[in-house]
Amino acid sequence: MTTATPSTTAKTSSTAFVGTAHTRVEGLEKVTGAARYAGEIPFADLAHGWLVLSTVARGRIRSVDTAPVLGMPGVLAVLHHENAPRVDTDFVGMMGVPPDPTCALFQHDRVPHLGWPVALVVAETSEQAREAAETLVVHYDQEPHDVAFDGEHPGAHPVDGYMPAVAEKGDLEAELAASAVVLDAEYTTPEEHHNPMEPHAATARWDGGRLEVVDSNQGAAWVVGELAKLFSLDPAAVRVRSEHVGGGFGSKSVRAHQVAAVMATTVLQRPVRVVMTRRQMFSLAGYRSPTTQRIRLGADAEGRLRALEHRSLNLTSTVREFVEPSSGPARVMYDADAHHTANFVVRLDVPTPTWMRAPGEAPGSFALESALDELAEKCGLDPIELRLRNEPERGPVSGLPFSSRNLAACFREGARRFGWAGRDARPGLRRDGRWLLGTGTAAASFGAGAAPSTAVVTAQADGTFTVRIAAADIGTGARTALTLVAADALEVTPDRIRVRIGDSDFGPAMIAGGSMGTRSWAWAVTAAAGELRERLTLGADVPPEGITVRSDTTEAIGALARKERHSFGAQFAEVAVDVTTGEVRVRRMLGIFAAGRIVNPLTARNQFVGGMTWGISMALHEEAVRDRASGGHYGADLAGYHVATHADVPHIEADWVDDPDPDDPVGIKGIGEIGIVGAAAAIANAVWHATGVRHRNLPIRPDRVLRAATGVPNA
Ligand code: MOS
Repeated sequence: MTTATPSTTAKTSSTAFVGTAHTRVEGLEKVTGAARYAGEIPFADLAHGWLVLSTVARGRIRSVDTAPVLGMPGVLAVLHHENAPRVDTDFVGMMGVPPDPTCALFQHDRVPHLGWPVALVVAETSEQAREAAETLVVHYDQEPHDVAFDGEHPGAHPVDGYMPAVAEKGDLEAELAASAVVLDAEYTTPEEHHNPMEPHAATARWDGGRLEVVDSNQGAAWVVGELAKLFSLDPAAVRVRSEHVGGGFGSKSVRAHQVAAVMATTVLQRPVRVVMTRRQMFSLAGYRSPTTQRIRLGADAEGRLRALEHRSLNLTSTVREFVEPSSGPARVMYDADAHHTANFVVRLDVPTPTWMRAPGEAPGSFALESALDELAEKCGLDPIELRLRNEPERGPVSGLPFSSRNLAACFREGARRFGWAGRDARPGLRRDGRWLLGTGTAAASFGAGAAPSTAVVTAQADGTFTVRIAAADIGTGARTALTLVAADALEVTPDRIRVRIGDSDFGPAMIAGGSMGTRSWAWAVTAAAGELRERLTLGADVPPEGITVRSDTTEAIGALARKERHSFGAQFAEVAVDVTTGEVRVRRMLGIFAAGRIVNPLTARNQFVGGMTWGISMALHEEAVRDRASGGHYGADLAGYHVATHADVPHIEADWVDDPDPDDPVGIKGIGEIGIVGAAAAIANAVWHATGVRHRNLPIRPDRVLRAATGVPNA
């Protein structure tokens, strides 16, 4: 028997691993292909399910012609609304909302949108299932549909999401009337899709009375909770594993594929795998709603805001009201004597939108930070100076103090590094051959929260440690970050720590979402590891079975004081615009963030740069277009839906200022989503600086640039 005591007490200042760059602990496995993803883990006797999606946008299923398909090679079953197991949808899940009705597969004959799952064909092979699914004839009674989203839709109504729909103080019209400078503008953002590299995939099987699901998701414990409730099972009888996840961006929750796989394995009593195709993801995986946003700002002659109004409208489906809370950033960023913000939705015959990285903040910051730039122009003020003059003392809506607010430091450091000083604010003056050049900036913010989690840390007799937590590493580097956090908490080197994640049997834990994953998990790991270290320092021998400590942060997090808790950032972009071809090229970007203590600079930089890259994509490329006649998308694939690729992405730099969270045991705030916030506005503001044309509709496509240059009104 050995003891881990001597070396755990040998802490020196060099054993502070949080804050030092560390390559991904699973990197070798990933680059050699040894890391297995949900759709490729082998199972004996595996059957394959293929989802059949509706081809009409509204109506009822009259009949499903299963007989011809059941005679096809390898076909085992066809599940649909007349024969599928029943599910219970009358519950509120771990994230505080009822299940997405899209998950209640095959429960009725109504079709609420094109691409609604109407059947699952199960066969011996994936190819047989696909062939049969594409052969299956479904008859519909079609009804007229409405998929047309616009700001004037009569069905628009305010809806509370995770924030109240409406927040109002002061007399807006009076303050606008009394303002020296007024801006009134409408901004739009298009429908955007997550498109993680790894499509959604799940394999389900019954194993000795337990349901096991191998899945690609953002929270194994969350998926257990939802599946247990849907299928009326004891949560202890459900296990979900998701060791490696190839991206999520908000889309990897409980969706049709897991439910279909569970139904099929229950019916067939053998393992069943269901994966989404890239095309299916466009109607099954959720997406970011398009938005129409109206902003009115009124300022005094010095640029101080007297009036701020931000109204946002997004679409939702007829089966669920999902709010993209784009007026949220205005409730944090800027105060005004009259401050009115509201989020509206309109129900259409479309799939239900969902969280997509920085929900609310990404489209909301485009509108708000563009509007601030326009106001700066009208006031004759530098856009950074305008923002600094409007730094609020407290939360503009909540009245609460900020836990910390280092936005000004981000702008100062960003301006210095970007070379902002001495910038000529006049637009359309700088040329480089056929290119007009411009620079732009924008502010960023994102909520910094933590949610209860449990962690289990075991000291082994050989001096190593195992951390178990139902965290999800969706490409963020969470596994590596938690390794560094555990190393510091245990006062050992990271090579003695093994972090195991992605297994619901490790206990309840926060999802990889809301930029709260790493912070929430690190808190639980720190608590368990700290207690374990104390026990080891007291000289406990480590028995062969090890010493295990379990933590639960519910109480500690519940005791956090109410404050405005946010990360902040300053985005800078330089663009080149050819107004004769309509081409916009981003030449460089810089983002400086105040986002808490940075656990692993290597993966943190990846997160920020990834978000900023998505900002380029949002500003210039991404747009899912719906055909009003059919109710479906044009080009629902990566050929038709443009995502920024290498050639679109120039040198992007991301860095941060010192900003440890005073109320977090490790100082973490969370960095997952803020990288995209404000990035599109910085680019749009740079396009204005280059050309003198304001682009208030994303993406800034070549045809929009051309129309602007020729004086044709933009749309
Ligand atoms: Mo992220 S949109 O909070 O999963």
